[in-house]
Amino acid sequence: MPDTTLRFDTLGPLRARVDAWRRGGDRIVLVPTMGALHAGHLALVTHAKAIGRRAIVSIFVNPTQFGPTEDFSQYPRDTQADLALLSQAGADAAWLPSVETMYPTGFSTRIEPGPAAEGLCGCFRPGHFSGVATVVTKLINQVQPDIALFGEKDFQQLQVIRAVTRDLDLPVTIEGVPTLRETDGLALSSRNRYLDPSERSIAPRLHAVLADIAERLARGAEAGPLVAEGIAALTAAGFGPVQYLEVRDAQTLQPVERAEREARVLVAAYLGKTRLIDNVAVVPA
Ligand code: PAF
Repeated sequence: MPDTTLRFDTLGPLRARVDAWRRGGDRIVLVPTMGALHAGHLALVTHAKAIGRRAIVSIFVNPTQFGPTEDFSQYPRDTQADLALLSQAGADAAWLPSVETMYPTGFSTRIEPGPAAEGLCGCFRPGHFSGVATVVTKLINQVQPDIALFGEKDFQQLQVIRAVTRDLDLPVTIEGVPTLRETDGLALSSRNRYLDPSERSIAPRLHAVLADIAERLARGAEAGPLVAEGIAALTAAGFGPVQYLEVRDAQTLQPVERAEREARVLVAAYLGKTRLIDNVAVVPA
């Protein structure tokens, strides 16, 4: 395990190092992040090291995936703490491009993802998945990894990235990694630090409601009534607004009424000023 993670702020030196690793036969794994790293990110690094020789973590708070009223300027940034965590986790390199490196004057290209980006977060965050697809495509082109890892907590994002990679023939394998949770079920997220103590005590209800719906769907129940019950339970617990609570096919992300094959229950809901998302797999019995 390296005791320091190599830091790259410009593309030339990063490419030279990655090329040398690749020529030496190393398999390269990219973990794209926006920093504010937590145990969920570090689990991705651990997984990267388990499946590849070199783990490269990008840290870039991507302005093009935030809407005008979203938390881009407040998004937590602590590069020194992130780099210390990456060294402890054994990451080989950190890629920290500036906004100017990613979007130089004259930059004018955007990727518009297809149906996977429609509905769910796509309804409430216009342009978000276009921003994600564009920056992830750039990161993949910059690092040219064999594999790129993404957490399943952002399940729609994962499916959008899979579709973009397939449609644009990007020579990389996209792998989803299961969500890491606190012991009370709350999915780890950089935004959890926005929760005050009272909100933090309510937050695990989100996962509890999803898990209950997923279990009943797996036993053959119909989605409609379960969803209505789930929204009522979340509202009673103090969430609001619940932007969506839906059951979708795990592959196509199309709405389903019964889980005849693998599905996902997905939610986005505000708790105070914090928007939380989560999802749970439904594996039919
Ligand atoms: O999930 C994230 O942290 C971001 O959306 C990503 C994939 C790093 C793109 O900016």
